[in-house]
Amino acid sequence: MLRLTICVIALVSQHVVDSDDHPKGHLQPLGRHRPPVGSIEERASFPTPLEMFEKYVRGSKPVIFRGILEKGMLPAYKLWTDSYLRENYGSEYVSVEKGKKENRKWDMLNITMSEFLDKYQKEDIYMVNDASVSMAEDINMPSMLLCGGFQRVVQNVIMWFSSGGTKSVLHNDGLDNVNCLIDGEKYLVMIDKKLKADVEETGWILNGQYSQVDVEKVDMYKFPKFRNLPWYEVKMQKGDCIFIPFK
Ligand SMILES: *[C@@H]1O[C@H](CO)[C@@H](O)[C@H](O)[C@H]1NC(C)=O
Repeated sequence: MLRLTICVIALVSQHVVDSDDHPKGHLQPLGRHRPPVGSIEERASFPTPLEMFEKYVRGSKPVIFRGILEKGMLPAYKLWTDSYLRENYGSEYVSVEKGKKENRKWDMLNITMSEFLDKYQKEDIYMVNDASVSMAEDINMPSMLLCGGFQRVVQNVIMWFSSGGTKSVLHNDGLDNVNCLIDGEKYLVMIDKKLKADVEETGWILNGQYSQVDVEKVDMYKFPKFRNLPWYEVKMQKGDCIFIPFK
């Protein structure tokens, strides 16, 4: 199964805390305990569907496509301004999370796109909404997914939209994801799934597949296996798409 997500804005601010006698990175944002191992593969263009499948989907290999939306891969990239969204989809109901820091309580607001546009710069809200059928006109399948049956397995197309400063929990998805950034920046901390046992040793929520670790303030005593956990750093810019494999 595949999920296509369209990220509008996701800015993550990081605060540095002075070090002390605690394990490195204690009570600091996830990733401060050691430098990243590196980043993931970068490409300037989409592969063919065959290569996409063989190398990245079957090979379970993340990849970032830099500036790909500048090449006209997604109409929404140029079209989606606040005024365009208001004019075209203003009366549609959208799903909005209360709180930009994900808590998985699924306490959602059901408001119109217009109401969201009025509020999102001022309030602590984050749109996480299944794109409507009418929005489909602005969203096309990336060319690397245009044959081999990828279209039949798209499970959902989600629009994430905020004024920035959102944070997700550390989690994995039971789907392959393609995530495209229409505006803003997105910072990802990725951990190889072969280290699953370490990540899941403490505070792992099995049915939601996420960790209770506070991604802004990692408690290295509660989560001792995080003390030396290797990780990969990905900095997405507007116009980039990333493929994140299953799990
Ligand atoms: C949102 O509210 C509208 C209007 O009351 C309703 O028609 C729609 O079904 C609601 N959507 C959800 C997901 O609850």
